[in-house]
Amino acid sequence: MAEEPNDSAAKTMLEKLQEERKSLPIYPYREELLKAINDHQILVIVGETGSGKTTQMPQYLHEAGYTKDGKMVGCTQPRRVAAMSVAARVSQEMGVKLGHEVGYSIRFEDCTSEKTILKYMTDGMLLREFLSEPDLASYSVIMVDEAHERTISTDILFGLVKDIARFRKDLKLLISSATLDAEKFSDFFDSAPIFKIPGRRYPVDIHYTTAPEADYIDAAIVTVLQIHVTQPPGDILVFLTGQEEIETIDEILKHRTRGLGTKIAELIVCPIYANLPTELQAKIFEPTPEGARKVVLATNIAETSLTIDGIKYVVDPGFCKIKSYNPRTGMESLLVNPISKASAMQRAGRSGRTGPGKCFRLYTAYNYENDLDENTVPEIQRCNLANVVLSLKSLGIRSLVNFDFMDPPPSEAVIKALEQLYALNALNSHGELTKIGRMMAEFPLDPMLSKMIVASDKYKCSEEIVSIAAMLSVGNSIFYRPKDKQVHADNARLNFHTGNVGDHIALLNVYASWKETNFSTQWCYENYIQVRSMKRARDIRDQLEGLLEKVGIEIVSNPSNLDAIKKAITSGFFYHAARLQKTGAYQTVKNPQTVHIHPSSGLAQELPPRWVIYHELVLTTKEYMRQVTELKPDWLVEIAPHYYQLKDVEDSSSKKMPRGPGRAAMS
Ligand code: CDP
Ligand code: MG
Repeated sequence: MAEEPNDSAAKTMLEKLQEERKSLPIYPYREELLKAINDHQILVIVGETGSGKTTQMPQYLHEAGYTKDGKMVGCTQPRRVAAMSVAARVSQEMGVKLGHEVGYSIRFEDCTSEKTILKYMTDGMLLREFLSEPDLASYSVIMVDEAHERTISTDILFGLVKDIARFRKDLKLLISSATLDAEKFSDFFDSAPIFKIPGRRYPVDIHYTTAPEADYIDAAIVTVLQIHVTQPPGDILVFLTGQEEIETIDEILKHRTRGLGTKIAELIVCPIYANLPTELQAKIFEPTPEGARKVVLATNIAETSLTIDGIKYVVDPGFCKIKSYNPRTGMESLLVNPISKASAMQRAGRSGRTGPGKCFRLYTAYNYENDLDENTVPEIQRCNLANVVLSLKSLGIRSLVNFDFMDPPPSEAVIKALEQLYALNALNSHGELTKIGRMMAEFPLDPMLSKMIVASDKYKCSEEIVSIAAMLSVGNSIFYRPKDKQVHADNARLNFHTGNVGDHIALLNVYASWKETNFSTQWCYENYIQVRSMKRARDIRDQLEGLLEKVGIEIVSNPSNLDAIKKAITSGFFYHAARLQKTGAYQTVKNPQTVHIHPSSGLAQELPPRWVIYHELVLTTKEYMRQVTELKPDWLVEIAPHYYQLKDVEDSSSKKMPRGPGRAAMS
């Protein structure tokens, strides 16, 4: 075959990718699969991670004509990094520009166009699409991928797509999963047939520690270095619980290997987690240079969502971060928990994809047998349901009792969610959506944040509130605190806190100052602020502003009226009010629980205010409130009369003790 000289490079690249596609375990089943899809409306597909389900199935469907007349094949992913990186890979394989024929859609980022026919998206985004297109008419196929992850959005999607499939006979539904308990999916979808893609799997040698590890971070570092100096070539994958842990280990590994200089082979450290900037995500897929070894530090994302070729060693400390919810107190927190046996098996399997592998479990065989649960509890049974209830209500689903759940949430949690939405004025006393609730549902945010935004209309400060909401949505990656410049960084941070304004207003100050410099990167460096996070905040803010317009809220600025801004915040977050105790700790008001101001809060340095409102709780050594602002207690009664009565906010001590201007002196 003669090649055109000019485009030969691009061509060989494409050819190489086509070869790779043909070498995937799913390829020999292509025709059989397409036939099964043709013959059945709903199909459950099971195949090991890396067999090609996510990247290949949508392409097969496209090649078989399912995207004719412009209809899309939609594929959902529980994680946004997976949606992005898989879409990037598929666009390469098809030789098209990302965002054209192949695109992705994640919260606050839509990388699709009119041309898009293969659309990867988070499960949460497809849920939102139901709001504007209840019959999903633009899709010919919906593939609910990574079904075994059982995220709350995936679980809700199951019920919704099952319902649609009944009246849209032309819609094909694929439920794909990496684990073998596919019967449950099949049962739920009216005994849909199960298509198994036989995996190629090499033996994995599993090593346990002989005694429990006191510090799994340290143990992980030591294990990685040991593998690096004693084991034959092959990359290492370490499972960690989150960004902070990954950054710590990244730094320590780089430091230690630098110390060893040329005595050992090069160790390339690649982190991967949800908030990792896109440019850096691609690095984990780059082939490892000859003579070097790659170590990938990953969250659960690498368990089944992403396949990294070349991994021969897995280090599994046995933990992951999961959401847990206490329906009695209505409190939700992210906790580091032991993983399930199913997860441990998946993790180990990552090392045996291309050849025999080794898995180092940093726990004992006894732990594995006796302490780990068989499976992870589905998210719907362990999280706050307010968001889901609001979405379902706005889809016109009146009663959750009749909703077709694969595993229903605890009724206690449903009741709590209804109560919360009622207190937020999103539902009326009949449980129907109010005008406020309808507006709130337009925002892809938690109900408390959406309520704060909607309430900003009343307090005439929507401009400021969307900035705060955008900054809060970025997460805890605004301020940068390098180890060798902590004092400088802390001082820079406190500058935004002048006047003891509280963390929400400090975030607003950061945004406003950055805007004043015309979004200067230099300014971010000087103030120890992560420019990437700020850009993301700006993108989110733009979208929120667009949504404000959509729901008919005028953009009004009121920067000097801090009380108005704080009242708007309180309108959303009155649940999160806490009162100072004699002990110096705080107690949450309605469901008494002892909490503390997080050391990173601007208020941690000052005399503690009597009343505060917080954005979220994080449990580390103690239960900490993160993003804290002072509050006037009578606001609670004024703003949330359904929820607070005078007796809740009255100071029992103040009634007995005459107090003059003492209150001002206290705060
Ligand atoms: O979905 P499943 O786990 O069955 O497999 P996949 O994600 O479709 O992966 C098939 C192949 O594509 C694997 O060999 C991956 O290494 C490769 N891939 C890639 O190179 N880059 C990505 N971003 C995603 C997948
Ligand atoms: Mg996949």
